[in-house]
Amino acid sequence: MSKQVKFLYLNQDEVIQCGALDMSMVMEQIELFFSLHDKGETISPDKVTLRWGDADSEAIHGRINAMPGFVGGEINTAGIKWIASKPQNPMKYGLPRGSALTILNSPETGLPIAVMDGTVISAMRTGAVTGVAAKYLANKDAKKAAFIGAGTQNHTQLMAVKTAVPSLEEITICDISEDRVNNFIEFEKKRHPHMQIKGTTSAEEAVADADIVVTATTSLKPIIKSNWIKKGVFLANVGNYEFEFDAVKKANKIIVDNWEALVHRGIQTPAIMAKEGLLSEKDLHSELGAIVNGKKPGRESKEEITYFCAVGMGAEDVAVAKRVYDEAISKGLGVYLTLWNEPLWI
Ligand SMILES: NC(=O)c1ccc[n+]([C@@H]2O[C@H](COP(=O)([O-])OP(=O)(O)OC[C@H]3O[C@@H](n4cnc5c(N)ncnc54)[C@H](O)[C@@H]3O)[C@@H](O)[C@H]2O)c1
Repeated sequence: MSKQVKFLYLNQDEVIQCGALDMSMVMEQIELFFSLHDKGETISPDKVTLRWGDADSEAIHGRINAMPGFVGGEINTAGIKWIASKPQNPMKYGLPRGSALTILNSPETGLPIAVMDGTVISAMRTGAVTGVAAKYLANKDAKKAAFIGAGTQNHTQLMAVKTAVPSLEEITICDISEDRVNNFIEFEKKRHPHMQIKGTTSAEEAVADADIVVTATTSLKPIIKSNWIKKGVFLANVGNYEFEFDAVKKANKIIVDNWEALVHRGIQTPAIMAKEGLLSEKDLHSELGAIVNGKKPGRESKEEITYFCAVGMGAEDVAVAKRVYDEAISKGLGVYLTLWNEPLWI
């Protein structure tokens, strides 16, 4: 029997040809992931962060995260996302802040089965996580949404929120950079010609009458103030320390993707509150997976304020990358690279 080992390499175009920009598909896979996660059929070791200073230095010098994960059930694949964040890339080099490579491994032999661009999958799965949360936690007839941060993530956040809440008619995009607001509007107007898209540099103005608020910024200071929050809103904290503590406390239901991982990472609003003894696991309504599996209710009234914060798990990337890989096999896309022809040592 040949002991040659090959893996499939997929570049970004091929990953896209395999459906990575299909938000309905990615949300379906992410919802399945959360169901498996809640049943204890996933493994998400803590992220390892390589950085050139303390947590605050990430805004300048960036970081690279190693995010391994395993997803069981029908996905049954292990893997890792190796994702760099360099916040100065867009301004300094015209390159995205985030860039990622994802490796998939057979859980049986441990051998690699695929290496692919993980940048698109990462942004899409981050959007999809909010999308799945919005499906259960936002008002079904929400019309207006505010997106704070006109970067990569909010493009996929918008795709996901619109998929989860099709009644959405109007969005406001806010950023401290007017250029980024204008670029965002120009891009999204082509994708959503029937939607009203406004721009602002004032977060307060954006949030004022929104039914859904998504923050995906590189801000190190809280942006969302508690007295801006109205009844019935769904809040999604995608970036780090973006909400005032009192804004989180104002929510009737606090939901996270993975409490343990969020506290370990330690840089998002609920994690900072936990560090200061102001929030603990018992203050949570639930993790998202329990809601997906029907163990806990999602939104129960029009008036409820729901707050969701996701730290993100490498296993989510594995779940979506496996679907992309299966599609590549059936379409015959990608290039096989040889790891070895014969193992040197056994
Ligand atoms: N939770 C997750 O799973 C997950 C996954 C991926 C990225 N993220 C986080 O999402 C955030 C956004 O990522 P991105 O790829 O879109 O980054 P990006 O650099 O493309 O965009 C971030 C934008 O935030 C803006 N900004 C900074 N401070 C602001 C403020 N006070 N008010 C309004 N806008 C402000 C910046 O000007 C920039 O345009 C990052 O913090 C990233 O780490 C989270």
